[in-house]
Amino acid sequence: MAQDIHREKILQKLHNTGQEQVLRFLGELPQDQKNTLLLQVSGLNLDKIQVCVENYVKNEVSVTISEHFEPAPSYPASPGTPQMTQKYARARQFGERLLREGRVGGFVVAGGQGTRLGYDGPKGNYPISPIRNKTLFAIFAETLLAASQKYGTAIPFYIMTSPLNYGATVEIFASADYYGLGRDNVFIFQQGTLPNFGFDGKILLSAKDQIASSPDGHGGSLKALYAAGAVADMKRRGVEYLSYWQVDNPLVKLMDPLFIGLHAMDEAEMSSKALLKAGPLEKVGNFCLANGKVTVIEYSDLPDEQALRKNPDGSLVFELGSIGIHIINRSFIEKLSAGGDFALPFHRAVKKIPYIDETGTLVQPDKPNGVKLETFVFDALPMAGRSVILQTLREEEFAPVKNAAGTDSPDVTRRMMVERAAAWLEAAGVKVPRTPDGAPDCVLEIAPGFALGPEDIKTKRDRIPPIAPGCQICLE
Ligand code: UD1
Repeated sequence: MAQDIHREKILQKLHNTGQEQVLRFLGELPQDQKNTLLLQVSGLNLDKIQVCVENYVKNEVSVTISEHFEPAPSYPASPGTPQMTQKYARARQFGERLLREGRVGGFVVAGGQGTRLGYDGPKGNYPISPIRNKTLFAIFAETLLAASQKYGTAIPFYIMTSPLNYGATVEIFASADYYGLGRDNVFIFQQGTLPNFGFDGKILLSAKDQIASSPDGHGGSLKALYAAGAVADMKRRGVEYLSYWQVDNPLVKLMDPLFIGLHAMDEAEMSSKALLKAGPLEKVGNFCLANGKVTVIEYSDLPDEQALRKNPDGSLVFELGSIGIHIINRSFIEKLSAGGDFALPFHRAVKKIPYIDETGTLVQPDKPNGVKLETFVFDALPMAGRSVILQTLREEEFAPVKNAAGTDSPDVTRRMMVERAAAWLEAAGVKVPRTPDGAPDCVLEIAPGFALGPEDIKTKRDRIPPIAPGCQICLE
């Protein structure tokens, strides 16, 4: 009886919001599939979906950017003045103290699939290191293990997956015995999903008993951390800051004391690392100050005339690109999530979405037929009381694997990993053979357990053999 009333309510709601097509095949489904579908439908917030449809699906304008925005202030990669040098030194010490006190956790958003890369499976399992072929996950976990040992604390590792790669990710970590971090220190959870829509705003079906849906974007991480209990886990451990990064970047400097220290000393709630863009139209988000708040405007939303603007000295006005590296306070996530109705703006992506048509046939469209919605974590930046930007260097910290060939491809990433290893060794006084055009004439890999930065290499000079031209050396 109660079930019937519940079902009636769902039907009514679907009718009121014009989405009754999702139950089109209900009558012909066996009971278990009926239940699956009704469960999915009852999980939809149809009132919110109706607003979404009007604002983001039927409406072509995805993002409204503020009319008045200016470049965002930032800390340079190297301090330029004696005062800044002092501040950086104090920040580094403060960051190290927070790390020693176990107040920082690691957090990777790994919900994306390796589709663009032509890789089947969680992108974090993509093998990338130049000699040992370690995966992205292995590199991150070994880095956290090395940092845990360096700072004498167990740094927890939070990993956000999507429903598409959760099971596979859990298996990867279990079969690698959690890369030595200990099962208790690895927290794998799933992000939420959002239904997919036809251009008419109707929710699509991917099977007669399945609503077509996709992950809600890395912006979903803030809600998911809270809902999955990761925030409660952080609280139990005394973790106050999350070092956040994207799964595709093996060069990311996790647990960077300088970044953590500047963020904490300036009492920021969410901070970012930035790069000087390679050119005005580089496909990265742009840091701006809109209404006095740090904001990222995606490259696709920044008008070209703004992107191309130059300062009198020839530098770009909007020169800072976002690379998906942040520090986020636990208290900030708690504050946003506690109210329950916190929402980031949706971004609209027009896609080819396979769907079940009214005759019950699965259609694989050959041109875009609908809309997927996503949220972006950097849209939370303007909600932060304070937000710090620290510039970093591309060759030191950014070599994402995104495409099978060309820009941001595995070949480029591996080359940059070797280049960085060579630079670290040379900074410690080790001679590295180079070709006439300046590239390292050898293949080098530095395991995180050997060194987390050039400063660790200096103390291990005696363990480094001479590097002959053309050789392969892995320091571990
Ligand atoms: C992203 C940024 C861009 C930045 C660039 C740097 C966006 C919209 N753009 O571009 O500003 O300059 O990285 O490399 O983010 N993810 C999830 N769940 C999702 C979607 C994505 O966990 O639902 C994760 C991915 O696994 C990945 C990260 O978020 O780790 C970035 O997603 P991706 O789609 O690869 O972003 P890009 O378009 O490359």
